[in-house]
Amino acid sequence: MALHPLVKRVLLTEEQIKTRVAELAKEVTEHYKKNNIKDKDIVVVGILKGCVPFYAEFFMNFKQDVVMDFMVISSYLGGLKSNKQPKINLDLNSDIKNKHVLIVEDIVDTGHTLSFLKDYLKSRKAASVNVVTLVDKPGGRKIEFEANFIGFSIENEFVIGYGLDYDEKLRNLPYIAIMDTDKLKTWEW
Ligand code: PRP
Ligand code: MN
Ligand code: MG
Repeated sequence: MALHPLVKRVLLTEEQIKTRVAELAKEVTEHYKKNNIKDKDIVVVGILKGCVPFYAEFFMNFKQDVVMDFMVISSYLGGLKSNKQPKINLDLNSDIKNKHVLIVEDIVDTGHTLSFLKDYLKSRKAASVNVVTLVDKPGGRKIEFEANFIGFSIENEFVIGYGLDYDEKLRNLPYIAIMDTDKLKTWEW
């Protein structure tokens, strides 16, 4: 398959992602079973829009009958830099009081989005708030934050694909890749 011209280097192939997501789903299930947490008390919250491909794959592998919910949060507002103050564009549908919330994210970069979200969901009286992220970029941190379950740890580069966008584009690449930011300067969409 031909790679997108704005790809500098593929970090994670579709196959690698699929395999790891199945493992992650198992790890998370074991965590809830071990702590005697029932399916009916678990709410799996996807953070739109980047989470979509990962959420779908994770949810189908996560063999527990749990509530599905979503929030729309944006921190990038288009460009290459993350914003300090994430914005809630759409809030949860379900009441999470005394529920065990699992946040599903595509990436943890500066840490601003997740640290804000975790506090926010705790303030709504969730019994527990855990984070599963497909990729973690520890080199991008601006504030301390650690996800509970991590698919892959990657280098500090701007990545695209499998839900991750550049200016709302390139989310549909089936792999995760480093973007060629030099080529971008002369690129016509
Ligand atoms: C991206 C990504 C995470 C967040 C991580 O979302 O999907 O939600 O940024 O970055 P941080 O750790 O620096 O806060 P974005 O705001 O781009 O919205 P999107 O999911 O709609 O692309
Ligand atoms: Mn996002
Ligand atoms: Mg984005």
